[in-house]
Amino acid sequence: MLNIVIFGAPGSGKGTQSERIVEKYGINHISTGDVLRAEIKNGTELGKTAKGYIDQGQLIPDSLMIDILASVFDSFKDSKGVIFDGFPRTIAQAEALKVMLRERGQEVSVMLDLEVPEDELMVRLIKRGKDSGRADDNEETIKKRLNVYHSQTAPLIDWYKAEGQYRHIKGLGTMEDIFADICKEIDAVAGK
Ligand code: AP5
Repeated sequence: MLNIVIFGAPGSGKGTQSERIVEKYGINHISTGDVLRAEIKNGTELGKTAKGYIDQGQLIPDSLMIDILASVFDSFKDSKGVIFDGFPRTIAQAEALKVMLRERGQEVSVMLDLEVPEDELMVRLIKRGKDSGRADDNEETIKKRLNVYHSQTAPLIDWYKAEGQYRHIKGLGTMEDIFADICKEIDAVAGK
């Protein structure tokens, strides 16, 4: 069972690399950002709540986010593994994920931290906002998302180091080179 946490600041390439990992390793993908954006698009109550936080660059409260993750995870009972993209983002979420996996006799196989310099993150996200119109990709909201990342999410680096699951990935360079580095780490834990 291959359970991968793909981690990094906004714009670090989590979604981009997740697509490649899914294709190569045949595991399921849970992107909490995509789940929330689909709820917003469908105009659900959850979507309305989520929009308020996302537009402000803030995190959705842990209790709500953990319930959402649990329900998506439940739908992947027979899978070969899951890539968690955008979750966990807080220590409370990481602890909840650990419990959820343990209940199935599983654990996180590896946590991949995509490290990208902040000026590059800003360039990527501003460009994506222009290309795609994603509402939270404007300079003011990106700055808030980066602050939230540093204060609430980055502490997970030490948390996963303590779990022995942390791997650093240089997230600057071509998407192909970054994917090759990621595959080396995955293959090492997958015993290939
Ligand atoms: P989410 O959708 O998870 O956003 P994010 O973490 O800000 O990440 P992004 O999607 O912006 O970036 P990414 O790392 O996936 O990079 P990508 O591959 O797209 O979450 C959005 C919001 O939802 C949060 O702010 C929060 O409000 C809420 N939320 C979600 N999960 C939550 C949780 N667990 N708890 C609470 N709230 C939660 O790449 C970015 C761009 O760069 C793309 O255009 C791409 O083409 C380009 N790019 C990628 N790789 C490269 C490369 N190597 N070189 C050049 N360009 C590249």
